Amino acid sequence: MNNLSVAQALLWARQQLEAIDDAALDAEILLAYAMAKPRTWLKTWPEHILSEDQLSRFKNCILRRSQAEPTAYIVGEQAFWSLTFKVTRDTLIPRPETEMLVEQALSIIPTDGSYSVVDLGTGSGAIALSIASERPMASVWALDMSEPALKVAQANAQSNTIPNVTFEQGSWLSGWQHGNLDMIVSNPPYVATNDPHLADLVYEPVTALVAQDQGLSDIRQITQQATEHLKPGGYLLFEHGYDQGLAVRDILQQAGFEQVETIKDYAGLDRVTLGVHSGKS
Ligand SMILES: C[S@@+](CC[C@H](N)C(=O)[O-])C[C@H]1O[C@@H](n2cnc3c(N)ncnc32)[C@H](O)[C@@H]1O
Repeated sequence: MNNLSVAQALLWARQQLEAIDDAALDAEILLAYAMAKPRTWLKTWPEHILSEDQLSRFKNCILRRSQAEPTAYIVGEQAFWSLTFKVTRDTLIPRPETEMLVEQALSIIPTDGSYSVVDLGTGSGAIALSIASERPMASVWALDMSEPALKVAQANAQSNTIPNVTFEQGSWLSGWQHGNLDMIVSNPPYVATNDPHLADLVYEPVTALVAQDQGLSDIRQITQQATEHLKPGGYLLFEHGYDQGLAVRDILQQAGFEQVETIKDYAGLDRVTLGVHSGKS
């Protein structure tokens, strides 16, 4: 298979990826990556013949994708909010539904004046950096226990030129020493150990995905710690599984949080639960 044009390469790739949703889009993203060109270039030059190197790179990408490796890991980046994030096998790939958590946080954080926010389990930095980019006056912390993930998040702060984020390694808020916070946001691991969806998530770090106690153990631990580190009137916001809304509301209410509510994502599924710290711990 030599001397393929752009159009022929895309056709071949779509056939190889027929078992995968969005095969046409993935084929385009991967060909643009293999040729180091923007996707619009492919549309302009459908008859352009790929060089030997470009074709071999593209075949390798399609082989990896056909084995279910996510496109974001193959190309090493993912769009989220209005930013582009480097991702590696040490970080979760940011999901579109997580934008709901960013949206809710931004609806609370004032556009002017000081405000302190920590993103617990920052991974690639998607949530912390999106919030910080929209609220330059806010002091944002991005915390993770994974050092390799934190390095990726720091690289993303640099590549997106976002200065108001401080990175910290730690296990949730166990070693927190920066004073009481206005807001805690987190998309923690929330997949139950026996969840059948885990079979489709083999490329992503299991420590980013799985939690004990039907996926609720990290949410419980963070909620307990939040009562000690939030200012009275401070906010706690979680992303969680579509079937965990009731359980997470219960965890927050039991810990004394007020105005507890669950927000649905664009698919109409429970996705974000938030509450206000009453000031009693
Ligand atoms: C579901 S991922 C979320 C990543 C990112 N915030 C996002 O939304 O794309 C959960 C993250 O929590 C981190 N994590 C897991 N246990 C932790 C702990 N005990 N303390 C701090 N971070 C932890 C993982 O390393 C991972 O980056």
